[in-house]
Amino acid sequence: MNESVDTTKVVRQHLEMEAFFTGFTIKGRTDVPAEQPQASPEPAAETPAGLDAIAAEVRACRKCELGSQRTNAVPGEGHPKARIMFVGEAPGADEDAQGRPFVGRAGQLLEKIIIACGLKREDVFIGNILKCRPPGNRDPKPVEIVSCLPYLQAQIESIEPEVIVALGAHAARTLLNTNKSIGQLRGHFQEYCVGLDHPPIKMMATYHPAYLLRNYTPDTRRKVWEDMKKVLAELGLPVPD
Ligand code: URA
Repeated sequence: MNESVDTTKVVRQHLEMEAFFTGFTIKGRTDVPAEQPQASPEPAAETPAGLDAIAAEVRACRKCELGSQRTNAVPGEGHPKARIMFVGEAPGADEDAQGRPFVGRAGQLLEKIIIACGLKREDVFIGNILKCRPPGNRDPKPVEIVSCLPYLQAQIESIEPEVIVALGAHAARTLLNTNKSIGQLRGHFQEYCVGLDHPPIKMMATYHPAYLLRNYTPDTRRKVWEDMKKVLAELGLPVPD
């Protein structure tokens, strides 16, 4: 995730992004939607203690060396009973500075995708495999993944999403415990196993928004959009044209 920026390219991508991930019409949707399948249940009166407790543990965590190098831990955020949970790789510089997931350029693209799906950021939960930024945005080390994964697993158990969207190869490979490429993993549902006492959760892998920004081709955009349409159909949500 190299963040050196070519301004012209960024502006062009932004304009293309506007054009590609907006302007979809949601089938059967009017300005005041009638009884529609809900993206999320009505907001819970309070965040389940579980998620707050997990976030507090993450903020106090020093299990690996990243704990002493971060500015802020990034536990994740969103609807406590979200039907869709997005899982990325690890916080970058913007996320480390703000303590919130996906708030940089990749996050802006993720938000566009969520909105193109007819949803709002608050409807879903957004988290990461690692809760702290690896220096220089290097790849996560196995010891960091092993230390951090229990937090994500606890979040999944608390939220009980119907679909997990794994963003990029690191998230997909970690959750599925495989070395397959993202090209092999994306495009069809996989099963994420929570534990013997839970039914498996459907998981869709797709390209990471940062990869999409670096490879902003009609083909990669179409593939991400196809993956998201499958997620919406699986949840019985309106699928934009
Ligand atoms: N990339 C990620 O994988 N996660 C973030 O939170 C931001 C960028």
